[in-house]
This record gives sequence, structure tokens and C-alpha cells, in this order.
Amino acid sequence: SCVLPGCALTAPPSPLSTKTELPAPYGPWMEIAHDLPRLITSHRLRSHVHQMPQLSARHLRGREELHLAHLVLSFITMGYLWQEGEEGTVKVLPQNLAVPFWEVSQALGLPPILSHADFVLANWRRKNPNGNLDTIISLPGAESLRGFILVTLLVEKAAVPGIKVGGCCRALWVFAHLESALRELNAFYFVDPAVFYAVIRIFLSGWKDNPAMPGGLVYEGVSDEPLAYSGGSAAQSTVLHAFDELLGIRHSEETAFLHRMRHYMPPPHRAFVEEIHRAPSLRQHVLSSGDARLCAAFNRCVSALADFRSYHITIVTKYIAVAAAKAKAGRAEPGDGPAAGKPPSALEAKGTGGSHIFSFLKSVRDTTREGLIRA
Ligand code: ALA
Repeated sequence: SCVLPGCALTAPPSPLSTKTELPAPYGPWMEIAHDLPRLITSHRLRSHVHQMPQLSARHLRGREELHLAHLVLSFITMGYLWQEGEEGTVKVLPQNLAVPFWEVSQALGLPPILSHADFVLANWRRKNPNGNLDTIISLPGAESLRGFILVTLLVEKAAVPGIKVGGCCRALWVFAHLESALRELNAFYFVDPAVFYAVIRIFLSGWKDNPAMPGGLVYEGVSDEPLAYSGGSAAQSTVLHAFDELLGIRHSEETAFLHRMRHYMPPPHRAFVEEIHRAPSLRQHVLSSGDARLCAAFNRCVSALADFRSYHITIVTKYIAVAAAKAKAGRAEPGDGPAAGKPPSALEAKGTGGSHIFSFLKSVRDTTREGLIRA
């Protein structure tokens, strides 16, 4: 439990799923899901989806199978939507995909779109007993995609053991070393900026706050009205929300977007963040203790989080701003087949979750710094 006075937090269950295959009746979904990069780059995914039988989600047993089904159906949906790039979108998700995706989403309390929980939390397995990690479901982008998912997973994993073993304050100490660890590991080595920018990003983008899909998406057989959902974003990562709440950081300008992103988390994760919010304030506890060493320790945590966010801005500069400039100058050479065409213009200044990238990230980093206790 947590070191906060009166706080009895319990960490959310992890991992989301240890299963990597659905039961046999769901073979048609798995077959398509395991072949997504090829089906998308050869422009055949939509026709394969049209031939898919309509399966009911009723036969899925337990949360693990549901999370795996959500992962599989969300990846198929993103591939279906963006197969032809931002100029070849569709307005309707066909019934045989939309209905089971909706059912699984309802059962889990997740939105019917790819979220951080699908892309990262449910999408890893051990390749061998040594612990080498791999993804379960993929999209175009090959090694760059795998690298991007697994580095993001490292960030999550850096926080989780601390939360489980020693309470959330210990988690921050683990996290404090993360920025230097990622630098040392050269963790982004496998992620090619040109591939990330021109190939991968579009598959994470949604149908809300996205000029490429202004009318939202009709989930056939679910609702006649189009529905709008934000694309995947690290703003949906539970650990960062948990650290912000723990340290009492208030992102005034960005609150609305960040709070909306909590509805893209699995409900137990959202409940965990809300529990921290309701717990007695750590900051207040540190302040009223008048203990200089405690204040210094608290400030090291805040600085670690701010430094991590600065590092994130550096990475985003390389993978989005610089990659965009190079793509414009015609110098990018993503060697990844037909899907490696023109980068999506709707994502030049916006994140895949729909935020204004740099003003959002800088404001979040700066308000983190404001959480420092001044002497
Ligand atoms: N949210 C990240 C982006 O905008 C993935 O590219």
C-alpha cells in the first residue's frame, strides 16, 4: 500500500492479458489480425473484412479474452479506416466488425477505438523464457512500429513494479531514472523517424478533432448517427495521470483534454487515478511537515517527471517536427511499401489524440515544474 497517511491504494491488475490467441471460433479475426501489415500495404484488408463472418462476442470468457479481442478488433478497425490514407477514408464501419467491437468495448468499459491500453498494455508477450519482448498484433511500419510500442511499454513497466511493491511513491523513484535509462539504452534506435511519421502515425489517429474525418464514423448495426472518438495517445497512459495526481500537479489549461482521455483507460485504471486524487494530499503532507529533506525528495520526484516530459518533447521534435520538415523537402525515404505514401497533413500540427502537439506538451511540462515546492 501507499506511504501516504490514510491511503490504502491498490494497484490495478497487470498485465491486461497473458493470452495471445482467442478461442477457435474467433479464428477468422485472428487470421486477419496476424496478417494486417501485408493486407493493408497490398490494399486488401477492406475486402477481407467484408468477407469476415459476423461473430458474436458472447463466447468470450473473462477479462483477458475480452482485452485480447479488443486489441484484435481495434487494430483491424484502424487498418480498415486508414488503408487508403487520409484521402481515402470511409464513413461506415461494416456491421460484422462494428457490432462485435461495440459489444467487447461495452463489456470492458472501453471506447470502440484503438487506445493506449490496446496499442501497448495488451499488446505484448514474452518471445522466450529470457524475457525478450515482442508485440502480439502489428500494423505497417515493421521494426519501427515494434520499437515504438516496446519503448512505450518500457515506460509503463518502469512505473508498475514500484506501484505494486512499495506504493506509488516508490514508483516515482523508479521512474526518476527512466529518462537517463532511455537515453543510455538508445531505446529509440529501431524507430526510424521517416517511417514513424509517414507510415505509423495515421493508424493511431481517430475520428474526433481530426480534419480527415470531420463527420465521425457510423458503426453499422450499432447507431445510425456517426460517433466521434479520439485516436490513441500517451495522454491515455494511467501511470502519468497517477504521478500527476500523486504530486498534486494541476494542468489548468489542458485539464479538459487530459480528463477526457481518462475515459479511454480501462475502468479499474481510471478508478485508481481517481482514488489517488481523493487520497490525502502528499504535497500538503510534505509542506506541513516542514522537513527540508522530505521537501527535497518531493522536489526530486517533480523534477524527474518534468525532465521526462522535456525528453518526450525532444523525441517528438525528432519524430514529428524534423520528420515533417524532411518529408516536405522530399528527403524522407520510408522503405515500407505502398502505405508509405504521403504523410497525413491532418497530423502535421496535431497529435494522434487530437491535441495541438507542442503547445500541449510544453504546457504540461511547465505546469509539472510549477508543482515544485519553493523554499
Ligand atoms: N501521439 C503520437 C503522435 O501524435 C503517437 O504521433
